[in-house]
Amino acid sequence: MAAAWLKDAVFYEIYPQSFLDTNGDGIGDFKGIEEKLDYILSLGCNALWINPCYDSPFKDAGYDVRDYKKTAARYGTNEDLYRLFEKAHEKGIHVLLDLVPGHTSEEHAWFRESQKDEANEFSDRYIWTDFCFRGASGLPYIGGESERSGAYVLNFFKCQPALNYGFLNPTENWQLSWRDPRCIATREALKDIIRFWLSKGCDGFRVDMAASLVKLDDEKKSGTSAIWRDVRRMLDAEFPEAVMVSEWSNPKLALRAGYDTDFCLNEPGSGYGTLMRDYDNGEDHSYFKKDAGGSINRFLDQYLDWYEDTKDLGYISLITCNHDTRRPALNLDETELGLAYAFIFTMPGVPFLYYGDEIGMRWLDLPTKEGGYYRTGSRTPMQWTSGKNLGFSTADAKDLYLPVDSAPDAPTVEAQEKDPASLLNTVRALLKLRHAHKDLQSDAPLKILCCEPGRPFIYQRGDMVLALNTTGSSLKAALPQVQKELVFSLGTGSWEEGQLEVGPQSFVVFA
Ligand code: GLC
Repeated sequence: MAAAWLKDAVFYEIYPQSFLDTNGDGIGDFKGIEEKLDYILSLGCNALWINPCYDSPFKDAGYDVRDYKKTAARYGTNEDLYRLFEKAHEKGIHVLLDLVPGHTSEEHAWFRESQKDEANEFSDRYIWTDFCFRGASGLPYIGGESERSGAYVLNFFKCQPALNYGFLNPTENWQLSWRDPRCIATREALKDIIRFWLSKGCDGFRVDMAASLVKLDDEKKSGTSAIWRDVRRMLDAEFPEAVMVSEWSNPKLALRAGYDTDFCLNEPGSGYGTLMRDYDNGEDHSYFKKDAGGSINRFLDQYLDWYEDTKDLGYISLITCNHDTRRPALNLDETELGLAYAFIFTMPGVPFLYYGDEIGMRWLDLPTKEGGYYRTGSRTPMQWTSGKNLGFSTADAKDLYLPVDSAPDAPTVEAQEKDPASLLNTVRALLKLRHAHKDLQSDAPLKILCCEPGRPFIYQRGDMVLALNTTGSSLKAALPQVQKELVFSLGTGSWEEGQLEVGPQSFVVFA
């Protein structure tokens, strides 16, 4: 069962490079996060996920870790991060770091040792074939880069050699079983990293590519899942409140492997992806896009299957977007974003808000930075004020990590604070509503009351009834049960004489 503090948790994801620069070097830092804790609380977020902030050559924005136990100097020292944990805790905010278990940077000391011809403690920490010209059974590999005559397996980019958690069913002599002591040593090294950060005050981890540990794993990911269950047993014994959030996108497997919550990622083509940005032959069918004709059912088909199967095990996390996806403002205007967030923040599970989505920051078409490619456009500096660099940094514009949005109407926190109807204030109102009602929090049950085309989408959380209309015309549905009072609305709606009516582009809550 998931940690108790998740029941009312709402996460804010911070890409540390781009949040707030307090020392004028053009890149965000830990002190910047510390300075903005009250802002984060003002949104209604009470938990953070910080993208990798460890020492790294940054060929994949820090997902190429060179030293798991040392922070990257550009963000601050380890002590600065420990202080951030402390300050956050004083304000009731939990902090998750990003754990990258499947690979390291090619510059990690373990990998440098592993590349050596002479056998040593780290020779089997990574997956090597037994000959420099031998490929790796269909897995991506690199040969010709080391003293050792073998090719090594990659987990993602070229700079990210795969750590060796073994093979489920080894078929070649260079493949070790996942039960081999040398692979168990990798697992123990991972636990050591987890213990290190938890003992310094972090509250858990978002786990990168959580399904990627054991190679040529079966469909059920039995090897990888067994490893995570082993990690969970350690956590239960030593850090029972620690939270593990998986980037797996398969809650049925992830929650059974011991995760508290798994992301429902809004990638194009996935069930969730159809809600925000769904194009087919250039035509937009996104559910939240006004009059695009999108149906909620393409999402529900997948989600309800997951939800029914996992609701007693843990949670599913809906996200506004993340550092890997295009920002929702690319396709949705402010009203549409408000409705999308109303949905995300009132569904079961633990929601995640990506920094800047609360003001509708845009995806910018930029050249790649630190292995970001199209993702770079979602990683630009936070837009705080109308001042220099939109309040992100005092550095010269040319020295910024990434350029700020130069559009004259670039949204900022400063401007939106003044406007009661802004997206920022909509987010605040929605999260206030969620915190005020147990029925809207992570573990209150969900029941779908109406999902027919041409009708409002109506769902029940606990005893509350919520209805959403993303079209430009009023929609009605018969709802003969005992009527309730309207307690919240974006737009208009009513429930009279067994008929629930939701105005154009509106969201209503009855309790
Ligand atoms: C995950 C991260 C992504 C990274 C990749 C490799 O998908 O979210 O940013 O590039 O893993 O670590």
